[in-house]
Amino acid sequence: MTAPAPTKTILRALAGETLPTPPIWMMRQAGRYLPEYRATRAQAGDFLSLCYNPELAAEVTLQPIRRYGFDAAILFADILLVPQALGSNLWFVTGEGPRLSPIINRAGVDALKPVDAIHETLSPVYETLRILARELPQETTLIGFAGAPWTVATYMIAGRGTPDQGPAHKLREAEPEAFDALMDRITLATIEYLSMQIQAGAEVVKIFDSWAGSLKGDAFTRYALKPARQIIAAIKERHPGIPVIAFPREAGDAYIGFGRATGADCVAIDNSVTPEWAAEHVQCDGCVQGNLASSHMVTGGQALVDATTRVVRAFSKGPHIFNLGHGITPDADPENVALMVDTVRNFRA
Ligand code: CP3
Repeated sequence: MTAPAPTKTILRALAGETLPTPPIWMMRQAGRYLPEYRATRAQAGDFLSLCYNPELAAEVTLQPIRRYGFDAAILFADILLVPQALGSNLWFVTGEGPRLSPIINRAGVDALKPVDAIHETLSPVYETLRILARELPQETTLIGFAGAPWTVATYMIAGRGTPDQGPAHKLREAEPEAFDALMDRITLATIEYLSMQIQAGAEVVKIFDSWAGSLKGDAFTRYALKPARQIIAAIKERHPGIPVIAFPREAGDAYIGFGRATGADCVAIDNSVTPEWAAEHVQCDGCVQGNLASSHMVTGGQALVDATTRVVRAFSKGPHIFNLGHGITPDADPENVALMVDTVRNFRA
């Protein structure tokens, strides 16, 4: 028996269909650029309290769907909840970003909790998904997500965001055994986490490797490509038919063949490559997502319309999900987002 063909636009694109109008959503679509997000966040207290409050996390997930009618809703949570669930201390410093107690050696890795223990911390996230699965409009696809092991490891090792991921590169070179043990722990936790998200209602999962671009050559294969392949293989085995989007941000030439090599149904593309290049070298293998520069959401105007049209046109001959090249920033103007959505939906070849 074959599965019925999907009807939701995002799922159709992920199945390889070329649609006349690409479905659209936006990375970080629930965020500080929206006044309604800021109001709900103030009600929740801090950012982590919002992530662990299923009612309010579902509410902020729904806000951009109500305002713009995006084709997908992405679970409101954060990639750093997994380290927290593994026992790392995690807090957010306003205006600066995340802080964790750094893992500097093998003893630090061994002190983490076992993978099975993560659900204790993460169960409110699964509840958020169950609420969303009930409340989303029937045409909207629910996307779950996790950070890729390398990106999550960079934060766990440095204890914060870093411009060049230096501490993580140092540990992988100086103490490969400790580093590999950490990567393994995160990889296995990510499989369990995404699997529970799917059981709770996620119809698609996305793996964010925001710092993949700092891995080159063999290191990219070993720490970006292989963990993605392992996670995707496990998800496909446990949940046949659930599509996976992989985002090896700033992979450059390493985007070529990434979908085939990892088994991802869609490769998300950042804006350091042109859409024409990505159409020729990546979309030839299947669905792509991207890649409008998020700065247009700040600056707007005719340049936004032109750049949006260029992305839609470049990807119009194959399966495409319209998105930004990276997350929308807090200084974006909600009116510019509306202009982008209108431009995508009114595009005629
Ligand atoms: O896309 C969405 O709308 C879903 C929710 C989501 C968030 N973070 C909410 C968030 C997702 C998918 C993420 C992923 C994430 N988180 C990544 C990977 C994608 C990327 O942007 O590269 C990374 C690296 C993180 C870690 C993280 N979380 C950082 C570095 C920061 C601080 C930077 C900032 O923008 O303030 C966060 C905080 C964060 N995660 C916010 C949101 C809405 C802002 C928190 C606030 O409300 O103060």
